[in-house]
Amino acid sequence: MTFAWMLTLSEDGTADVVRKLRSVGCVFAEEEAHLLISCAHSPSDLAAMLGRRVAGIPLEYIVGWAEFCGVHISLDSGVFIPRPRTELLAQEALAIAKEFDKASIVVDLCCGSGSLAAILAAAFPGIELHAVDLDPAAVQCAGRNISSARVYCGDLYDGLPVHLRKRVSLIVANAPYVPTSAIPMLPPEARVHEPQVALDGGTDGLDVYRRIAAEAPQWLKPGGHLLIEVGDTQAPLARNIFEQSGLASRVVHSDRHDATVVIGTVSHMPAR
Ligand SMILES: C[S@@+](CC[C@H](N)C(=O)[O-])C[C@H]1O[C@@H](n2cnc3c(N)ncnc32)[C@H](O)[C@@H]1O
Repeated sequence: MTFAWMLTLSEDGTADVVRKLRSVGCVFAEEEAHLLISCAHSPSDLAAMLGRRVAGIPLEYIVGWAEFCGVHISLDSGVFIPRPRTELLAQEALAIAKEFDKASIVVDLCCGSGSLAAILAAAFPGIELHAVDLDPAAVQCAGRNISSARVYCGDLYDGLPVHLRKRVSLIVANAPYVPTSAIPMLPPEARVHEPQVALDGGTDGLDVYRRIAAEAPQWLKPGGHLLIEVGDTQAPLARNIFEQSGLASRVVHSDRHDATVVIGTVSHMPAR
């Protein structure tokens, strides 16, 4: 995107934006400056955007999108910002979905902006996608990002139509998993600007995942999978929770993504 006014922005002007960003501790000040400049429609627009950034508003809320798996995900203020580490969850889900036929059903629980579902929809246009979030702002945002999916507002599985029971091939869930006591240690961009409901996973961080795992066998078809993202140290307990819910489990960790995914699978043998 090039606007005529940008041609008049001197090198000094750009350097000034970088300097202001650096002065408030922006680590990637040069990259952020170029992004703000390329997204602003006029000098006054740039000044307003810079003012919001200097005040601590996350860059993604200012430009209105976040990049996830190389795709621009439209984002409204107050909706969880997709994290680069969640690309591991997307990658693992894509690898599993490769084996699916066209009629397969995929659910994104706690979908937020719908970033995970959007990547799955782009890779497998034929699959039937359903996405759920408790927060109406997230639901609205997800609806824009995944036009091919049905997006519901609701509490986990309560949001889903009952006819999906025992028919789902894959559930992906990047639910809140920060232990309540760790919330005050989060960077202000998350702590102040993202909703508590998107972050707080209860005492050990795994409260929402306990509920997701407990009900997963009622929604997954035989051989179906549940994929979740957790913190590295939470993985053994998360596996335990999966096993107690009747899901065979394994862990995938990536140093490159600094991310951990737990994969649960329902037995191929239908329960009697
Ligand atoms: C960590 S954010 C992740 C969002 C998205 N999956 C992503 O990776 O960008 C967790 C999301 O879960 C939603 N959420 C929290 N509790 C929920 C519940 N009980 N039912 C449905 N959604 C819930 C929040 O509103 C938030 O959008």
